Amino acid sequence: MLTLNVIGAGRVGRSLAYCCRKTGLFQIGGIINRSSKSTDMAVDYIGGGTACNSMKDMSPSDALMIGVTDGELFNVVKDAYAADLVRPGGLVFHLSGPLSSAELGVFRNKYKAKVASLHLIKSFEAPIRHSRDLSGIYASVEGDDEAVIVLSEMLESLDIKPIRISASHKILYHAASVFACNYLTALFDIALDLMAKAGIDRSLARQALIPLVKGTVSNLEELDTPNALTGPVARADIDLIAKQSRAIAHLDERYDFIYRELGMIALDLTRRAGVHPSDCCDEIAVVLDGPPTQK
Ligand SMILES: NC(=O)c1ccc[n+]([C@@H]2O[C@H](COP(=O)([O-])OP(=O)(O)OC[C@H]3O[C@@H](n4cnc5c(N)ncnc54)[C@H](OP(=O)(O)O)[C@@H]3O)[C@@H](O)[C@H]2O)c1
Repeated sequence: MLTLNVIGAGRVGRSLAYCCRKTGLFQIGGIINRSSKSTDMAVDYIGGGTACNSMKDMSPSDALMIGVTDGELFNVVKDAYAADLVRPGGLVFHLSGPLSSAELGVFRNKYKAKVASLHLIKSFEAPIRHSRDLSGIYASVEGDDEAVIVLSEMLESLDIKPIRISASHKILYHAASVFACNYLTALFDIALDLMAKAGIDRSLARQALIPLVKGTVSNLEELDTPNALTGPVARADIDLIAKQSRAIAHLDERYDFIYRELGMIALDLTRRAGVHPSDCCDEIAVVLDGPPTQK
């Protein structure tokens, strides 16, 4: 069995190390976090491995997983490179979404290591509760061929579907998750705020809007975006779009900006659906694009 050292066993690193141990894929070696308390908690959670206070306490392993936050990666790589944590020809990978395997190039030069980045396409607000929580998700992998093969096999054995991408696309690739996940949360908060302004208590608003969001996600599972779109732009309800934009602008100019910009994207989908004549779509564009006085 291969040994795996872990630097940075937080929400993601801890979850993945736990699954790797549970499936018997790796024997967990040393674990190190920033604080010793956090390291001890990670060892308890993972159910294996040895808490280390510094990289000097770690023995070289077959594989090294770096799960620190993106801003810490550069410094941790520098320290780990100096501390001889990987056996010659071993595997080194990090878990960042936007950063690529290029961050780990020094290990390739010094230890002839195979390097890669592995990004789980999931939002971790906390470490997972069960290994099945990762089942069925997707993950991107990029880097040296050998590393990508080993990591893809590991992912498949955890029922995670690997997608191979190129290092140069990581920033854009990660931006997709920012839109689909982080900005969805930001948009949901705007919706809650507008509900509150309409006199509906925030917790009731959440209860009312969650089924709407779930229904939208369910439509997206079945239909392509032009056919899944509903609402005033899809219906070409020009009067409503103008009134709504005006009402929102009175409350918050930023919300109105977002309403109109996303309205333009929705209009592209409406054009692609081909259900309204193009001069009607052009009229919507004028309302969405025009200065507030025109609305
Ligand atoms: N959260 C998500 O939804 C998500 C999803 C996919 C991918 N990712 C990626 O996963 C990586 C980790 O993110 P995360 O959300 O798991 O972060 P996190 O929960 O904050 O965990 C980071 C861990 O790294 C440790 N750490 C930080 N600096 C360190 C250092 N200099 N030396 C040793 N340990 C250090 C921290 O130790 P302490 O506990 O002592 O502070 C913490 O345990 C990032 O690259 C992120 O982009 C995150």
